[in-house]
Amino acid sequence: MLTATMSVDDYKRLLAELTTSGQRAFEAARDLEELEHARIEYLGDQRGKLREFQIALGTLPKEARPDAGRQFNTAKSTLTEAHDRRRQDLAPNATRGDARPADLSMPPRRQWRGSKHPVTLVIEEIEGIFRELGFTVATGPEAETEWYNFGSLNFPPNHPAMDLHDTLYIGDDVLLRTHTSPVQTRTLQKYAPPIRVLIPGRVYRRDFFDPSHAPAFEQIEGLCVDEGISFVDLKATLTRFANRFFGRRPTRFRPSYFPFTEPSAEMDVQCGVCGGSGCGVCKQTGWVEILGSGMVHPAVLEAAGVDSERYTGWAFGMGPGRIAISRYGIPDIRILYDSDVRFLEQVAE
Ligand code: DAH
Repeated sequence: MLTATMSVDDYKRLLAELTTSGQRAFEAARDLEELEHARIEYLGDQRGKLREFQIALGTLPKEARPDAGRQFNTAKSTLTEAHDRRRQDLAPNATRGDARPADLSMPPRRQWRGSKHPVTLVIEEIEGIFRELGFTVATGPEAETEWYNFGSLNFPPNHPAMDLHDTLYIGDDVLLRTHTSPVQTRTLQKYAPPIRVLIPGRVYRRDFFDPSHAPAFEQIEGLCVDEGISFVDLKATLTRFANRFFGRRPTRFRPSYFPFTEPSAEMDVQCGVCGGSGCGVCKQTGWVEILGSGMVHPAVLEAAGVDSERYTGWAFGMGPGRIAISRYGIPDIRILYDSDVRFLEQVAE
């Protein structure tokens, strides 16, 4: 029992003794029941030994109370901690460290799932359609020689496309391919007709990065070479493809020019936004251009060692990036290369 006339020094000494003996008592408890007895003895609200010190605080001289009060608080937290620690040790399935039970009502964090890039989605869908039509997928190198990229494709020497302003050269004769068409030559050299291949790949041009141009972008090339292939095959296959990919919308072919095809044609589908009446997306024409195509020029077949008297073929090239842009209503081509997840998530499948 504490006496009413106790000195401050006595108060502090007795409080220190109490702390030590309380810690020992908690340590000595062999089960939760013994621990609870010890808790009531030391920390109990009504009769606990510490409670007496709290009451005794009020009997100390006024100027000594703040200091003694601080020591009281320290003693209380030391004892409380010692008690809690022992309780954790004795608790069934005691776990070390943070023993708070899981809060099962807490909503889980939203899972972030990666997804395919819009251009990849378009390429895969196009590959799927052409696979059904009997095409296999081929690829070729991104660093090409002038001959594969231009010469074998019937570009005349000194064609402006070969100019340093348009093409990225990485050596005297080596350049970054400006289109996937050189893989036509590589395929024709490697395999004998009949050939039906789809060639997706990245190509490079010396363009400014602006809302409608990128210096590196994707292309998909198609090539079909066999005996007796005519423009009818080109039209039928590409129309079939367009109907599968864009839905049953009207298509049209316009005469065009490429050195590696003769005749050449550009293919349009009716604008899906305005239905052909003219809008901003189709620049008021009612049509959207989707690819370039044509009958493979005999000189291309011959350059690759294929007998152009016996075999004919058709080819096409398109830009899946541009198709992704119109399909997903993307306002600026640069978004495709920013890797900004906030945007890419919107088209994730
Ligand atoms: N290589 C052409 C380009 O990059 C696209 C192209 C047009 C490819 C017509 C073809 C074709 O195979 O027949 O613009």
